[in-house]
Amino acid sequence: MSKNSVTIVDNRNGNQAEFDILDPTIGSPAIDIRKLHGELGLFTYDPGFQATASCKSDITYIDGDKGILLYRGYPIEQLAAHSNYLETSFLLMYGHLPSNVEYHEFVGIIKRHTMVHEGLKQFFNGFHHDAHPMAIMVGVVGAMSAFYHDSLDINNPRHREISAHRLLAKMPTIAAYSHRRAYGLPLLYPRNDLDFIENFMYMMFAVPSEEYKVDPIAVQAMRLIFILHADHEQNASTSTVRLASSSGANPFACISAGIASLWGPAHGGANEAVIRMLEEIKDPDEIPKYIERAKDKNDDYRLMGFGHRIYKNYDPRAKIIRQACYDLLEIMDNSNQPLFNTAKQLEKIALEDDYFLERNLYPNVDFYSGIILRALGIPLNMFTVIFAMARTAGWISQWLEMMEDKEQRIGRPRQIYTGAAPRDFVDLSKR
Ligand code: ACO
Repeated sequence: MSKNSVTIVDNRNGNQAEFDILDPTIGSPAIDIRKLHGELGLFTYDPGFQATASCKSDITYIDGDKGILLYRGYPIEQLAAHSNYLETSFLLMYGHLPSNVEYHEFVGIIKRHTMVHEGLKQFFNGFHHDAHPMAIMVGVVGAMSAFYHDSLDINNPRHREISAHRLLAKMPTIAAYSHRRAYGLPLLYPRNDLDFIENFMYMMFAVPSEEYKVDPIAVQAMRLIFILHADHEQNASTSTVRLASSSGANPFACISAGIASLWGPAHGGANEAVIRMLEEIKDPDEIPKYIERAKDKNDDYRLMGFGHRIYKNYDPRAKIIRQACYDLLEIMDNSNQPLFNTAKQLEKIALEDDYFLERNLYPNVDFYSGIILRALGIPLNMFTVIFAMARTAGWISQWLEMMEDKEQRIGRPRQIYTGAAPRDFVDLSKR
């Protein structure tokens, strides 16, 4: 019997089998149960994959108990302090920090891919004027596969790389257009003299009749949001991208699936839901009422922006962004002040309440990113779009990694069937 193994005994019949334990660089080891069904005729039951590693990955490491997040080994705190989004994207995609030459070459490549096909732009006219920008994102990003055929051979590493570059580069353009469609504003061409974040802000907010001045405070806050959201290992949307890709589907379709998954309020939709919640609460005196609702077992109501599946002590991203949020609110005197006061009081009350303390429910990154985006004047329905843009770096990196992983198989979970046992069809006249 190997020391680095686990023996599983089926107590019903005494059958037993030995399974290897796989050791990661850091973190919890995992039992390799690939042969479980073959050896013992058993499946595992794990809804929500709370105890299941679906892949091996070199990209991102999270220790939820200690509040650690590493991209390719680098602590998120250091990247947030010293890096920018494209450098972080390079790191995620290629596994190392770029040299000076590599960095400038990468920035140049991404800049040259920011425009979208003129035919693709026509799609924006077809959406209903009040379509949610995430609905537009799901559609248009998926439709990219109808335009960029020249890089769709997923078995060709160069094609994969070009598709990844296109996705990263065009996402801000598509995002800005999905916003401007709702306001009937002209779709502006990207400007290559601006950096990645500045260019997105320009395409979102500029009008052709006036010179647009990029606000450095807004760019700095966005830079932080983009780095903090760039990847988060096998979360729901990333797992969706991997699952969709496991069938050999093209990357544009798969990232579109990831965007759809991100849209949900328990995932990327949370920052939008935070502001809706704060708007609903309105008066800080009403907070106790909402806290009671969140604690009530018979009420589905949850405090948005609180809790995390993995971080059970604190979310390191929330710690970084909380400071940025408070700094921003100090210098920005705007009409949202009452809303921010409600947020601050909610944060304080929840952090002192036993219900939240016992369940380790702390404000997560979305609680603060929602407040920052509101302070910057980003429309509410664009919050999750910004998350999607930032997460594109992670999605394409995970996809590129998966495409090289010889152990990957088509994703095909099993089930515990709880339906009817075999029975005979009854003719309609006899029912
Ligand atoms: N408000 C009130 N109670 C909560 C909340 C909340 N936001 N989150 C969890 N709980 C309670 C649950 O009712 C449960 O209580 P119980 O043990 O008495 O039954 C306990 O805390 C554990 O909750 P689970 O749902 O089992 O925790 P899980 O890890 O599955 O869920 C999740 C994590 C989905 C993030 C959850 O905390 C939530 O819905 N939060 C609000 C939405 C949100 O902010 N999502 C953003 C996530 S971060 C991201 O995507 C970047």
